[in-house]
Amino acid sequence: MSNPNTKLTVTTDGDGKSLQLPLMTGTIGPQVADLRKLYDSLGVFTFDPGYGSTASCQSHITYIDGDAGVLLYRGYPIEQLAEKSSFLEVAYLLMNGELPNAAEKEEFDLGVMRHTMIHEQLRSFYNGFRRDAHPMAVMCGVVGAMSAFYHDTLDFKNPDHRRIATFRLIAKVPTIAAWAYKYSIGEPFMYPKNSLGYAENFLHMLNAVPAEDYKVNPVLARALDRIFILHADHEQNASTSTVRLAGSTGANPFACIAAGIASLWGPAHGGANEAVLKMLAEIGSVERIPDFIAKVKDKNSNARLMGFGHRVYKNYDPRAKIMQNTCHEVLKELGITDDPMLDMAMEMERIALSDDYFIQRKLYPNVDFYSGIILKAMGIPTSMFTVLFAVARTVGWVSQWREQVEDPGQRIGRPRQLYVGPALRDYVSLSDRG
Ligand code: SDX
Repeated sequence: MSNPNTKLTVTTDGDGKSLQLPLMTGTIGPQVADLRKLYDSLGVFTFDPGYGSTASCQSHITYIDGDAGVLLYRGYPIEQLAEKSSFLEVAYLLMNGELPNAAEKEEFDLGVMRHTMIHEQLRSFYNGFRRDAHPMAVMCGVVGAMSAFYHDTLDFKNPDHRRIATFRLIAKVPTIAAWAYKYSIGEPFMYPKNSLGYAENFLHMLNAVPAEDYKVNPVLARALDRIFILHADHEQNASTSTVRLAGSTGANPFACIAAGIASLWGPAHGGANEAVLKMLAEIGSVERIPDFIAKVKDKNSNARLMGFGHRVYKNYDPRAKIMQNTCHEVLKELGITDDPMLDMAMEMERIALSDDYFIQRKLYPNVDFYSGIILKAMGIPTSMFTVLFAVARTVGWVSQWREQVEDPGQRIGRPRQLYVGPALRDYVSLSDRG
């Protein structure tokens, strides 16, 4: 939506050429300068390597106000959705734009739960991995392999293919994830039980064994469902941008989501929850936190306070607050009155939030700071933390992918560069190279 009354004028020195850039205004949040004519008019590119000042698209899905610590899914505050909604209802909201009525909710839930099983031949892919392979490596491989099995839903231009593919991804990624864990510990795969809720079914596939009945703790299932809600979408983060860029080439949805999984794996992104636990374990005790904080502040060390800081949030990540409350709820349910990891995390947060280094840089706990403590208390191994993030974020990825491929104006993403390599030069034959 362009606001006809406001423009940004860019003038180049020397030749005095100038260009008026229309400012586009969204529903809420910063305006954007429409640069699409810049290069053709002035022959210059913009330079923004980390995309800190770049809007890559327009979207109706998620809004973040980093200064105020606000996160909205289709306009609904994350705090209200975490408290009152369910993950599958949030999935419907993110994908369709409105909360479902009872009939829509029933149909959607049924649609997802009817696709939870994976092709039997996909099982054999697991045998190709070492037992000690990181589960995220398995996720990249097996989710990518889905495009070798669901040939009937690869045409992203076909609305029916898009609908079925999104159902298949939301429904099957938890099964693939749970089987990655079972494979790593040498236990038999547990098939999904469609009579269970989404998070309950996932915990059942993770923890049940064929030899005996297993009842999922409803408090833990509710906590995990809430954790999934918190991780479902987050605007144009690195992995979502990866999915959009892959989708802009017309790649099939399974390949695009596999690309998103690969991008999420990095410790600067979705891998941070695993990195937080490793950091706390390395520090070892509350007494040694000041030494670690000193190391983090020392420019010569590469140490970072994992689970802290965010490109967008320059205030407390609203998800971190909800995560901390959930942490206390889960530990209480499990009868854990004294969790050294939680004690360390809370002491670390207290110290950091009163330290100028973090205050000046507006570094606050993010979604990953407390999540690992909850998951560890629930008996989920550290190596599976980012996998759970991927299970939840699949809903955001498919919603953003669909929004992009259904945009009639979408084009292939193809950034340019500032070239700083050698100027033109002639080939030198081997004998003349000295
Ligand atoms: C997620 O984008 C999203 O929305 C992501 C996410 C989502 O839902 O998709 O929210 C999920 O990825 C959360 C972030 C998880 N990552 C971590 O917790 C890893 C630790 N945090 C960082 O490495 C860092 O804060 C980032 C990657 C999250 C953000 O990096 P930026 O915006 O590029 O910031 P920067 O690296 O330029 O740092 C700015 C300054 C630097 O100091 P100076 O050079 O100015 O002196 O802040 C410092 C950094 O050294 N800094 C940190 C720090 N994070 C930034 N110092 C210590 N510890 C940290 N964690």
